[in-house]
Amino acid sequence: MRVAIMGSGGDAPGMNPAIKRFVEAAFAFDMEPYFVFDGLEGLIDERISKASYEDVAGIIHRGGAIVGSSRSERWYEYKYRKKAYENLRKAEIEALVVMGGDGSFKAMKLFLEEFDFAVIGIPTTIDNDIFGTDISLGADTALNVIRDAIDKIRDTASTFSRAFVIETMGRECGYLAAVSAVTSGAEVCVIPEVSFDIESATKILKEEIKRGRRYILAVVAEGTGKTEEIVKWLKDDIGMETRLSVLGHIQRGGNPTVKDRLLGSGFALESIKALARGDRDRVVVYSDSRFSTLSFDSVLSQKYIIDEEILSMLNFSG
Ligand code: F6P
Repeated sequence: MRVAIMGSGGDAPGMNPAIKRFVEAAFAFDMEPYFVFDGLEGLIDERISKASYEDVAGIIHRGGAIVGSSRSERWYEYKYRKKAYENLRKAEIEALVVMGGDGSFKAMKLFLEEFDFAVIGIPTTIDNDIFGTDISLGADTALNVIRDAIDKIRDTASTFSRAFVIETMGRECGYLAAVSAVTSGAEVCVIPEVSFDIESATKILKEEIKRGRRYILAVVAEGTGKTEEIVKWLKDDIGMETRLSVLGHIQRGGNPTVKDRLLGSGFALESIKALARGDRDRVVVYSDSRFSTLSFDSVLSQKYIIDEEILSMLNFSG
């Protein structure tokens, strides 16, 4: 049986460890591993090739993905999805493992509805916004990149007695911001999931400044759209010199952490096991320290919710 792996949408650290294990596990299960390069765009344009052990040697520690990735607009036209299906048939590939987020899973669900094919999803996004899995591939490395950045920002903030607003990625989800605020001891955290009580935060911060607070760290999730507002508030109402640091795409890069290497390996192995069982429409999830699978439908029809325990650790929110 020929099986192919591909990335889709925003890349995330941990994809290379997953690709390596996919190839190794495929051989172990008597399957023939293939790569689809450059995501759905590459699938449409027939950028498909056979994978070997040599291809995946020395990649486990590297961020990004050796197979590339893309966001595809063409995919939403039927003729291109048909072309992708024909390309897979031509290469005699019977199953596809897709590392991607919600958008990519929606794209695959569409494909599954139209064509008789086996697709297994691996939740891959730094945003950690996928239902059914406690953690998605790449989120842990992104959290560590953010931790490193905030540690450095704290050095200058505390020396220079300034407030810093640090904007994190995550789309509509505040997971990266919430966990980063807790683990970096930020005074302020603004996320889409919780309404920010500006009055109470003003009162607390002003009181703390009176008692000697010299600097403030505020972590704001991009999905709130409130970054500039928080900068203005710290400057004008709290009265502290304020700087903004938008972390941007550095959050998507870097060597995968131990956790992301393990997760990548586990997700990939589970995807091969699912195919060996004959599964045709599943997403591998990691929940309560165990790998299992859910249908694309159930993952896509429900919303990821940040753990209450994490939210309860935030200082000013709610
Ligand atoms: O979904 C991953 C992500 O990095 C989001 O956190 C961010 O909003 C978006 O992708 C950025 O997309 P692009 O790389 O297309 O600018």
